Amino acid sequence: MIPDHDTQPDRLPIPFNRPALEGRELEYMAEAISNGRTSASGPFSARAAAVLQAESQAQDVLLTTSCTAALELSAMLLDLQPGDSVVVPSFTFVSTALAFAREGARIVFCDIEPRTLGLDPAHLATLLDDTVRAVVPIHYAGVACDLDGIRAVLAAWPRVSLIEDNAHGLFGRWRGQPLGSFGRFATLSFHETKNIVCGEGGALLVHDQRDVDRARVLFDKGTNRRAFFLGQVDKYSWRDAGSSFGLSDILAAYLYGQLEQRELIQQKRRTAFERYQHSLAPYADWLGFTLPMVPDGAEQTYHMFYVLLPDRQTRDGVLKSMQADGIHPTFHYVPLHDSEGGRRFAARPTECAVTEDVSGRLLRLPFYNGLTQGDSERVSTSFLTALRQLSR
Ligand SMILES: Cc1ncc(COP(=O)(O)O)c(C=O)c1O
Repeated sequence: MIPDHDTQPDRLPIPFNRPALEGRELEYMAEAISNGRTSASGPFSARAAAVLQAESQAQDVLLTTSCTAALELSAMLLDLQPGDSVVVPSFTFVSTALAFAREGARIVFCDIEPRTLGLDPAHLATLLDDTVRAVVPIHYAGVACDLDGIRAVLAAWPRVSLIEDNAHGLFGRWRGQPLGSFGRFATLSFHETKNIVCGEGGALLVHDQRDVDRARVLFDKGTNRRAFFLGQVDKYSWRDAGSSFGLSDILAAYLYGQLEQRELIQQKRRTAFERYQHSLAPYADWLGFTLPMVPDGAEQTYHMFYVLLPDRQTRDGVLKSMQADGIHPTFHYVPLHDSEGGRRFAARPTECAVTEDVSGRLLRLPFYNGLTQGDSERVSTSFLTALRQLSR
């Protein structure tokens, strides 16, 4: 039987997200300030980058101010020419498309497949042509998209680069290989809503040695400053395009403090995920909702917990009812192909029916490291009660 929430006393609101300190973040940030190395590429950046490099086996790791900035850096490295296009899922955050649009690419929006909510290889195969320079899938909720399918399609298009927008997937794997290690580039996010946070931050993982030198120049405002500090040249100067992409070492210190606790963080999130799964799964068929599915071969990151409701009206009704209970779930991506910006930057209109359907039915439940058993029970009860009432 679903517990009755009406008999429960009022309690504190449960936010959607609550970032937490898990280890020595504050100590490290104070150390960065007191040692006077607070700009980009300092000692904490080196320590954080080393952890990420060991995880991803990247040729180079550049810590950036956000995942958006890392995507922009990858777009600059493509050296896009007029007429070039880039394929991105319609079901993603704006930055996945915007980073390439602002470098002049036309965007081709691809639909997702309904299992993992990642880029649909069958649709991708119909979209590729000689103008396409890159395909940028995401691993939604930290579950690998159909990497085998996407790579099989791309095998016939050697000029097309694979760039993983791995904002959700740090420490996830596909068939044992780390997410973020499959393409020419991958990007990470350390925004406050992610598993590993530093307020705002990101990283570009560079997997092809031929991109390393230029990536460092673009990263450093178009200069060969890094080569100078490595003792490779005796002065540095302006060489290329670029921008100020680097993460302050104060935030890198925060990031390193989090990365040190990565196992603890992942364990806490796994517990939170499994609690929801355990309490909701018995009601899924009866009340007509679907829980996240993780295909065999995928090790997920426990980045979020979403449910798919039968239709938009039910989703919106559940959202409202839970909010009235002081609980703050939220919806997610609004289809990019059908947005004002999407239409402006699209190479041509494309059909993304699964994206439209999923976007209208998806609800993300509150999810964070410190979500307690009590919080989780309150959220599940509120969700099930709202859904039961709406299904009457
Ligand atoms: C798939 C995806 N890519 C990129 C971003 C942008 O990340 P950031 O806020 O670090 O720029 C997000 C943000 O949540 C995202 O979900």
